[in-house]
Amino acid sequence: QKNVGILAMEIYFPPTCMQQESLEAHDGVSKGKYTIGLGQDCLAFCTEVEDVISMSLTAVTSLLEKYEIDPKQIGRLEVGSETVIDKSKSIKTFLMQIFEECGNTDIEGVDSTNACYGGTAALFNCVNWVESSCWDGRYGLVVCTDSAVYAEGPARPTGGAAAIAMLIGPDAPIAFESKFRASHMAHVYDFYKPNLASEYPVVDGKLSQTCYLVALDLCYKRFCSKYEKLEGKQFSMDDADYFVFHSPYNKLVQKSYARLTFNDFLRNTSSIDEAAKEKLAPFSTLTGDESYQNRDLEKVSQQVAKPSYEKKVTPSTLIPKQIGNMYTASLYAAFASLLHNKNSSLDGNRVVMFSYGSGLTATMFSFRLNEGQHPFSLSNIANVMNVGEKLKSRHEFPPEKFIETMQLMEHRYGAKDFVTSKDCSLLAPGTFYLTEVDSKYRRFYAQK
Ligand code: ACO
Repeated sequence: QKNVGILAMEIYFPPTCMQQESLEAHDGVSKGKYTIGLGQDCLAFCTEVEDVISMSLTAVTSLLEKYEIDPKQIGRLEVGSETVIDKSKSIKTFLMQIFEECGNTDIEGVDSTNACYGGTAALFNCVNWVESSCWDGRYGLVVCTDSAVYAEGPARPTGGAAAIAMLIGPDAPIAFESKFRASHMAHVYDFYKPNLASEYPVVDGKLSQTCYLVALDLCYKRFCSKYEKLEGKQFSMDDADYFVFHSPYNKLVQKSYARLTFNDFLRNTSSIDEAAKEKLAPFSTLTGDESYQNRDLEKVSQQVAKPSYEKKVTPSTLIPKQIGNMYTASLYAAFASLLHNKNSSLDGNRVVMFSYGSGLTATMFSFRLNEGQHPFSLSNIANVMNVGEKLKSRHEFPPEKFIETMQLMEHRYGAKDFVTSKDCSLLAPGTFYLTEVDSKYRRFYAQK
């Protein structure tokens, strides 16, 4: 199969949100700590009627409807998530309700889990299936769904929630350049969820930042070297039109792009001009370890990278800044932002993607974009996602309401035998919501 990749996308996020500015005031931290320090504008959160299952039911149903895809045409369904609702029963099986109704139970795939990387694993599984001898000609469907919530403390403002559905097949407008894929995987305790009674992760924030940047460096080096072997010429940042990063919070994305710039400087590529070389020269003798701790390098490289960052990264930062970390959905929400901002002008462009999941697993890969044929065209994908309208029609809540919700959810996590308020007044028509968890922990949903 040729040009296997993403044919269509849908994104869903809760309509309930809170401004980071108001959280700063509420938490009594210095002004700008979340908005400038973390680079975040707003945070979306699930109330008691929404969870990763309802969000993914909504995203999948909406994608199938809007593209008029018969559920019988789906041959593989893969879910990426790190939000544990059940230690055995996959989220994928909940989504089977949509397909069973239409008489299609012949669908491969289950869930993939490793922090924020599960969505990428799910995507690779689907792409590999379409490219393999097992492919039966039907579409693959990938779902990334997470609710990112943290205990009180410095990580709490990085929370968020969303689900993304992606239709996979050949002749895609968003095609994988499958040869250029580079990974780094290792054993570290930077962010993990060992306490099965709690939804909150244990997180070593500083370590997770460094692990992310180390993984980025290694993936980029390997990506470049694979490119060079296959294409017979050096890869530099000039060879990609956009860079899209997993986005736990925007500041880390700024640091990541600066880091790639420093890499290109060390590799002496044509993407770094004389003025930039001069500024970065004092740091050329730092050891790898030193370079991650050096604040001056961080500042100077961010400054050198800034004009290029505005052009090649900013268009992908909208949704992650407005919603917060969406774990598995974060990278693809960033990509959705790029489609929203640039749609058909992306025709012919190369986009480099960096996926990171703590623990750790990381891959850099690339897409080659082409406008494509309606309905599977870049402009139609942007239209259907309707990101601007979805962001505009959200409802803002004060921090007190957010904290109250977090407390209720702590109580509900792992609980049975309760009914929710069934209050779906804020949800858009067509949205799924949780109504009840019965005495056997069975979950029930309704559609507005
Ligand atoms: N105005 C502007 N900037 C400010 C202000 C202010 N008033 N106050 C602080 N800052 C800046 C700091 O200088 C710092 O910037 P820098 O990184 O450029 O130096 C930044 O805000 C963060 O402040 P810190 O005090 O360094 O860190 P904090 O205690 O706020 O914790 C952290 C931040 C570690 C990111 C925390 O939110 C966290 O643990 N998050 C979850 C872990 C995470 O997301 N890791 C990423 C990869 S793993 C994953 O995806 C889950």
